[in-house]
Amino acid sequence: MSENKNIPASVMQVKQRFSIIGNSPELINAIERAVKVAPVDLSVLVTGESGSGKEFFPRIIHASGSRKHKKYIAVNCGAIPEGTIDSELFGHEKGAFTGAISTRKGYFEEADGGTIFLDEVAELPMTTQARLLRVLETGEFLKVGSSEVQKTNVRIVAATNVDLLKAVARGRFREDLYYRLSTIQIQVPSLHDRGEDVLLLARKFASDFAEKYMTAPITFSEEARRAMLLYRWPGNVRQLKNVVEQLALFDAGKEIDRSALIELLPLGGTSAGRDLPSSTGHTYEQDRELLWQTLFSMRAEISELKALLGVGSEISDGIHRNKGLLPSAKDLIDAGDHGGVHIIPEQLPSRGETLEDAERKVIEETLHRNGGDKKKSAEQLNISVRTLYRKIRDYGIES
Ligand SMILES: Nc1ncnc2c1ncn2[C@@H]1O[C@H](COP(=O)(O)OP(=O)(O)O)[C@@H](O)[C@H]1O
Ligand SMILES: [Mg+2]
Repeated sequence: MSENKNIPASVMQVKQRFSIIGNSPELINAIERAVKVAPVDLSVLVTGESGSGKEFFPRIIHASGSRKHKKYIAVNCGAIPEGTIDSELFGHEKGAFTGAISTRKGYFEEADGGTIFLDEVAELPMTTQARLLRVLETGEFLKVGSSEVQKTNVRIVAATNVDLLKAVARGRFREDLYYRLSTIQIQVPSLHDRGEDVLLLARKFASDFAEKYMTAPITFSEEARRAMLLYRWPGNVRQLKNVVEQLALFDAGKEIDRSALIELLPLGGTSAGRDLPSSTGHTYEQDRELLWQTLFSMRAEISELKALLGVGSEISDGIHRNKGLLPSAKDLIDAGDHGGVHIIPEQLPSRGETLEDAERKVIEETLHRNGGDKKKSAEQLNISVRTLYRKIRDYGIES
């Protein structure tokens, strides 16, 4: 492909080795930064939305630096309960707490000479942040329940999808640790900022899943491809992969059209608010596309709201009393009548509920739907398990 011409050979090698798909300048730039900082023994902070592919970067850095023959340990800070995280990272002494029946090595001891990837680093409790700062500054740490100073030499690559400076401002993240971790930053672009990469990725995933499930690969219609380019992809590459997997399973061998694709795209994905490729070629068809997506997303949000508030036909304001339901986006488009759109916001129920009430309900509902499975629920809510636990506690939600 012609755009590959500008990509440095070292980046091409890394892309191949890790099966990273995409040629957008932002992605190439991020990979190039990782390759360049790999030999320099500094901490690196990888930022980017959830599902954007942050996990490749610590692996690239480890594999391209002098630590490559030593250990690489990935730790998801959001998934380890607050009570055990110090012991997981730094180890503990026999008898340090109930259940500590023997001395245990922590990751910082095990990864001596190597690299630790601290994923979801914003979730680290304040006390652990203090320990981490110390080990980064001096290479020293203490096992939980021990007063014997130990030494280690570990490189840290951290990742986060939250704005750490905001966390600092809110008193949730140590400022000194922030500066220590973020000497070098690598920003992983969101999928919707990568232009045609989304099509390359979709094609690659289609062929991967066809192989995995031993089916004929799916293809995408022109319309479906355009929708992919317009869609916001809030869950980024992970979401795209998931959508393609479902299509590969249930529509094997078919050409996927726009409606089959859009059916799998949940709320929040409208491209409204983003600029359409304007100037030239700004056609009626594109306007219609945008409108369709906006409507689609509004409809989804309204049915979510309805489900959330447990309201049904009573919120109909009369205009649609005959149906008792809100018009679907498809209804409106099919009728060729875009003029009815304005009625939708007026039908939103207002019951004086606060955002917190709504959040609490979404959490309860999600937990219920997953039979109380917190890991699954946290994944669906796109928050860490620790955050979910905190919210369950704060809202006093019963399990
Ligand atoms: N450029 C890419 N090429 C191929 N697969 C990708 C790319 N970016 C992300 N993925 C895949 O998307 C999924 C999510 O990536 P991950 O690194 O876990 O995201 P994050 O850690 O940012 O939430 C993984 O299955 C990963 O392999
Ligand atoms: Mg991740």
